[in-house]
Amino acid sequence: MPESLTILEDLGRYETRAMHGQMPIVWDRAKDFQVWDRWGNCWLDFTSTIFVANAGHANQHITDAVKAALDADLVHSYSYATEIRASYLKRLVAAAPEGVGKAYLMSTGTEATEAAMRVMRIHGAKTGKGPGIISFDGSYHGRTLGAALMSGTEDSRRWIGHDDPNHHRFAFPFQRPCGDNTDWAGAFQAELAALRDRGIDPARDISGFLLETYIGWAAAFFPVDYVRALSDFAQQHGLVVAFDEVQSGFGRTGRLFGFEHYGVEPDLICCGKGIGNGLPLSSLLGSAELLDLPETGLLSSTHSANPLVCAAGLATLEELERRNLVAESARKGQRLLARLNRLQGRHPDRIAQVNGKGLVAAIILADPANGEPDGATASRICEAAMRKGVLFVHTGRESIKFGPPLTITDAALEEGLDVLDEIVDGLDGGAAA
Ligand SMILES: Cc1ncc(COP(=O)(O)O)c(C=O)c1O
Repeated sequence: MPESLTILEDLGRYETRAMHGQMPIVWDRAKDFQVWDRWGNCWLDFTSTIFVANAGHANQHITDAVKAALDADLVHSYSYATEIRASYLKRLVAAAPEGVGKAYLMSTGTEATEAAMRVMRIHGAKTGKGPGIISFDGSYHGRTLGAALMSGTEDSRRWIGHDDPNHHRFAFPFQRPCGDNTDWAGAFQAELAALRDRGIDPARDISGFLLETYIGWAAAFFPVDYVRALSDFAQQHGLVVAFDEVQSGFGRTGRLFGFEHYGVEPDLICCGKGIGNGLPLSSLLGSAELLDLPETGLLSSTHSANPLVCAAGLATLEELERRNLVAESARKGQRLLARLNRLQGRHPDRIAQVNGKGLVAAIILADPANGEPDGATASRICEAAMRKGVLFVHTGRESIKFGPPLTITDAALEEGLDVLDEIVDGLDGGAAA
């Protein structure tokens, strides 16, 4: 919109460019699964901002709870006790899997993965293990130092300036699109053997593993056998297994937590994004034994667990339950995946892969001429969709992701996918240009 240019220009002038890179639209209002600008344009939102608004944008029940917390004249209490924090924690722990006894509340996902690393290492030190942490190539765990060290791209670590010898990354075990007979338990053992070859004994030098439940940019899940082998090894040697559920938690994958698809019980669960439905809330969940390892006072942070975010977190859990949104995510996810698979069937040389579970999915684009990853076309499709009134997740690489609020209606889901079909079907005729 021409009228929006001054706002975009001001942001360009006064804000670090490191914040930028999204489609050039100016959000004025977002309600449920739609976004509006000030000039009457409306978009179907297949992003949930970035997998945050799981219970719908500006969800009335959550907004009312936050307003009530504001009206109660208690905006902040640092780590002094509040009733709303106690109520929320009780509810959060009750909603979590059986082994979870305690939680630590923070503001961002990166703090949650950092806290997991800290707890893994304290546990390791106490049980005679080294400080090593194993994570996966291509994964993303946040932007702070520890999280970046565990993140699996060179780009996210280059600024650090050194390679930390206690961080190890295994190759992400990508499954072939049409299924395969790979021995995934064996693939995990081969990674351990490679570590041993470098003089690192995983049973002695490692404190724990951090797994992004699905690899973010591609919505690709681990092979179940791989995760089970990892979990068995960790259990056998007393190592901690942490899942980064910042993106995959709170109903996104059709389960409350994405790791449930693997049939394993993690020791630590990192939560963020959808946990507060838009308010800055994150959490580390685990057994009382693990979460009580850090000394009193060692995990507090100025803004963690303030009354507003606790009210939002509690109301989010209530909404997920009251509106059956986890099951809705699974149901609508089947529609989403079926539509994407049909689209791939029409364009097998352009769409190399379709991944996803529940209401998160990705298509991976390839150049039909040579099969190489095709980030440029992914960007063109996202821009064309924006022009036609739909926002997809623009990853900046060869994938496009889909993650609408779990509240999206079936009709809106189909409408957004019709737009995707129209663009991709018209690609070679230049319709998306
Ligand atoms: C899997 C995962 N972990 C951690 C983070 C970091 O969360 P935050 O941006 O709230 O620090 C993200 C954010 O995109 C994420 O997707």
